[in-house]
Amino acid sequence: MRRAALLALTLSACAGSLPNDPREVADRTTLREAAGGRLRIGAAVDLSALTREARYASALADQFDSVTAENAMKWGPIQPEPQVWRFEPADALIAFARVHRMRVRGHALVWHNQLPRWVTEQMNRDELAAALEAHVTGAVAHFRGMVAAWDVVNEALSDSGDRLRPSLFEQRLGDGYIAQAFRAARAADPEALLFYNDFGAEGLGQKSDRVFALVKALRAAGVPVDGVGLQMHLDAARHPSVGDIRANIHRLGELGLVVEITEMDLRVRGIAGTRAERLEAQRVLYHDVAAACVEEPACKAITLWGFCDAHSWIHSYFGVDEPLPFDETYAPKPAFYGLREALWSQRRVFPRIGQQEPAVDLVVTAP
Ligand code: XIL
Repeated sequence: MRRAALLALTLSACAGSLPNDPREVADRTTLREAAGGRLRIGAAVDLSALTREARYASALADQFDSVTAENAMKWGPIQPEPQVWRFEPADALIAFARVHRMRVRGHALVWHNQLPRWVTEQMNRDELAAALEAHVTGAVAHFRGMVAAWDVVNEALSDSGDRLRPSLFEQRLGDGYIAQAFRAARAADPEALLFYNDFGAEGLGQKSDRVFALVKALRAAGVPVDGVGLQMHLDAARHPSVGDIRANIHRLGELGLVVEITEMDLRVRGIAGTRAERLEAQRVLYHDVAAACVEEPACKAITLWGFCDAHSWIHSYFGVDEPLPFDETYAPKPAFYGLREALWSQRRVFPRIGQQEPAVDLVVTAP
């Protein structure tokens, strides 16, 4: 038997024995290894922790293949004065991502929070429209080719989803500011995927119906919206059903949109019982929500809002909790294993993924 043929046989034997059973995932398998490139697994990054804590940086690089800035790309931090840009922190994140072969998501161009004072204070309609255009253009152009996906408009609907949020932008510019932002982003980087991002629109209901209607209308009008971000800040004690989350992802996919879970964290302090019971409920929910994404072809990425409980926005906004898959010491919690199992399970849902590399070699090495 020729050597190449022998090699081909060996490779095909390896391909056949790749574990398809999620329980066979190895102990040290990381989240990014489990995701295997079919979907991105990301985290929002606290840039001061990244520069100060070696353990933070190494866990981030080991576990994730996508990053977003938790705050550094928002309007206030990045353009604190008119045309005075503070790109350095986000540029440092992009350099880190490049070294560790990670994708970068940009968050968020137009949002009613974390705006600089010069925007919120006394601008007339024309000045605000010009400032919005210049902000979107300046930020997207700076990161052109480096940021693969942008949250262009964040939280434009009211909390309940009964109407557009009466934000500064909506009040002064009317609902046209949304289309304006997307068009400016597309012009500044035609390659970047452009997202509408919101919270409370994960399952089925008034708010997700409204998001669906909004993006459908925008696309019908030729506005360049490529995807919807579902934030997924959930309270594990009262969350939308996973079936509804999946159905919602599915219907957005049928519109031709990409869906990403963009800010996942799962609060557990409202769950009665012992800590072990809370963490077990959290494990199951991390698994099931991630599995819904894995099983829907439109769903291309899951980004966590942070990754360890020591660095989470939740404590100051909702009370002390433990919403993420790694604890304060960076040790994996049950949630880590639930999430990893769901990411790994795509090898069962899409069996060809595990076999792709050896199969390609077979073709190349045959005599
Ligand atoms: C949060 C950050 O995590 C905090 O550090 C900051 O103080 C406020 O913003 N939805 C979003 C994110 O789209 O930008 C928010 O991030 C969390 C809610």
